[in-house]
Amino acid sequence: MYSRIAGTGGYLPRAVVTNHDLEQRVDTSDEWIRTRTGIRERHIVAEGEMTSDLALHACRRALEAAGKDAGEVDLIVLATTTPDMIFPSTACILQAKLGVTRGAAFDVQAVCSGFVYALSMADMYVRSGQSRCALVVGAEVYSRILDWSDRSTCVLFGDGAGAVVLVPSDQPGVIATRLHADGRHVGILAVPGQVCGGEVRGKPFVTMEGGAVFKFAVKVLAEVAEEVMQAAQMPIERIDWLILHQANVRIIEATARKLRVPMERVVVTVDRHANTSAASIPLALDEAVRAGRIRAGQHVLLEAVGGGFTWGACLVKWG
Ligand code: ACO
Repeated sequence: MYSRIAGTGGYLPRAVVTNHDLEQRVDTSDEWIRTRTGIRERHIVAEGEMTSDLALHACRRALEAAGKDAGEVDLIVLATTTPDMIFPSTACILQAKLGVTRGAAFDVQAVCSGFVYALSMADMYVRSGQSRCALVVGAEVYSRILDWSDRSTCVLFGDGAGAVVLVPSDQPGVIATRLHADGRHVGILAVPGQVCGGEVRGKPFVTMEGGAVFKFAVKVLAEVAEEVMQAAQMPIERIDWLILHQANVRIIEATARKLRVPMERVVVTVDRHANTSAASIPLALDEAVRAGRIRAGQHVLLEAVGGGFTWGACLVKWG
């Protein structure tokens, strides 16, 4: 028994903030942001619009694409770093909004690697026969954890959600997955604030050592790609599409170069979405699927790295 992706969905909030808009808020320039990151614009939520709202739109689209009804869903695994509240989980809030009343629902916290972690876990539930219709979601509102006066971080992120429907299959599907974490690097990318005694203690905004993150990301993305291909006993040349976490186009290009995958086979959405953390891979996947770029029988390698540090890869056969 395998699992396979039966449908994808994505959702971006309506408001678009361009680099030129950010020039009005902080000492930056469109040229600096584009040349250092590849980002041109990002989407930002409206007042009161929550992570679960973005996830709801993405899930409805994924269910429709899969030809499934919400009533068939028996598992929701939602990756987010920006939950609606401390608890209950955003997965449970989403479950209620979808009108689903059965099965399990829980959040996964692996920062930008969250979707790859969630997909790997849901794959095990489906393969073992415990789930017959799983929603795997990445949804984020990073705009609420950014210090909008800090030019070194606020230009990098955006809001959005992506989802896939995972179902059992006698053909792969999800061929192989590999996950990693190394907690020694907690300090280089974090939101170190805590809620304590009714107040926030410490900084409740994204803090980052950009250079260290960059180097670490390229190194582990190349390593885990090779590891997952080895697990699948397939050469990297068989990959039709590489979908990396959309943090920075320079990280994407450097990783693709290291893996010798030409950029024509790499999906890039960071220019329009910026870094949407756990949502970035399912959003990019959905866009490539809906554009007809990813076709039945093709091999897609999904790869992410994020705070923790966490990283991982999933090799998927489409169709
Ligand atoms: N506009 C203008 N200047 C800026 C901005 C900005 N928005 N942000 C920083 N600067 C300045 C800095 O203050 C610094 O100035 P100084 O030299 O006078 O001190 C200078 O630009 C730094 O410039 P560079 O060294 O050329 O910047 P670099 O090429 O290292 O790019 C960046 C910085 C984009 C953050 C890069 O290190 C990077 O992409 N790192 C990865 C970070 C990332 O992607 N994080 C996302 C989360 S991690 C994840 O998702 C895995």
